[in-house]
Amino acid sequence: MTGVLITGGTGKTGSALAELLRSGGVPVRVAGRHPAAGDPDAVRFHWDDPATHSAALRGVDRVYLVPPPLTVDPMPLVGPFLAEAERLGVRRVVLLGSAIELPGAPGALEMAARVRARPGWVVLRPSAFMQNFLSPHPMGERIRQHGEIRTAAGSGRVGWIDARDIAAVASALLSDPDGHPGDGSDHLLTGPKALGYADAAAIITARTGRPVRVLRSGTGEVAEQYRAAGLPAGFAASLAAVDAGLAAGRDDAVSTAVLDLTGHPPRTFAEFVQDHVTEWTTDGPATR
Ligand SMILES: NC(=O)c1ccc[n+]([C@@H]2O[C@H](COP(=O)([O-])OP(=O)(O)OC[C@H]3O[C@@H](n4cnc5c(N)ncnc54)[C@H](OP(=O)(O)O)[C@@H]3O)[C@@H](O)[C@H]2O)c1
Repeated sequence: MTGVLITGGTGKTGSALAELLRSGGVPVRVAGRHPAAGDPDAVRFHWDDPATHSAALRGVDRVYLVPPPLTVDPMPLVGPFLAEAERLGVRRVVLLGSAIELPGAPGALEMAARVRARPGWVVLRPSAFMQNFLSPHPMGERIRQHGEIRTAAGSGRVGWIDARDIAAVASALLSDPDGHPGDGSDHLLTGPKALGYADAAAIITARTGRPVRVLRSGTGEVAEQYRAAGLPAGFAASLAAVDAGLAAGRDDAVSTAVLDLTGHPPRTFAEFVQDHVTEWTTDGPATR
């Protein structure tokens, strides 16, 4: 088969990408740990089980790569996967990387460098997802339950991006194994405007009527919040430490890449909120 293996195919960007590629007539293989029975496109894929890597890769010529989640060191699992993809002749890998560097996680940079080095393989570096404001992300769940955001980012601004726009970029890059809209092997992806937490909270409140307040916290408290939500301690600490970078303005950036690569402007934060307007009430959905 020629077509696209979508790792993380049931996740926020992967599921939207599967829908886009299918609607464009591109064959897909949707990878996850629990493939839906009766879905001929679904394939079992577990990062901890290399046998599932080869089986999932066999016969595809393109891959959307969502790295193993909740780890500061993805390379022990992703390195062999990329080697196998190379061996099997995969022509394009589009990696879901990140614009935001996780402190204490150099493996993510190594992974991006490895992908970038291969001709035709591409790294996407999205800014923070707007979907973090929705459950089941710990921040979204806290808003839903308590109407509050606890952050150590101060008034630092972020170019929040809707995960659906990341999927649209990936779709543009993966639809045709020979074509490649835009130049380069590395794309910073953002929404149209950088916003601080207070700006975002004000938009949610204005559009939904649900008051959302922003409380300044220390990174230790933010890490504890992530740990309490079930994240491994090392990853929770690293994620919380991101706030210091945000506070220093390190992620206060916007790019035109979504428009350049898809022909459509990225969604605004207000549009994102409008599309999920019922989800911040206490009786809104806790999971998606
Ligand atoms: N959130 C942000 O602000 C942000 C910003 C920049 C970059 N990113 C990057 O985005 C990526 C996705 O994060 P997300 O939280 O949005 O997750 P997600 O893509 O919504 O969900 C994770 C996906 O990974 C799959 N998965 C989980 N554990 C797996 C395992 N052991 N083996 C195989 N597949 C597994 C899940 O599928 P099943 O459960 O069906 O197996 C699911 O499809 C991360 O790499 C993150 O670094 C996030």
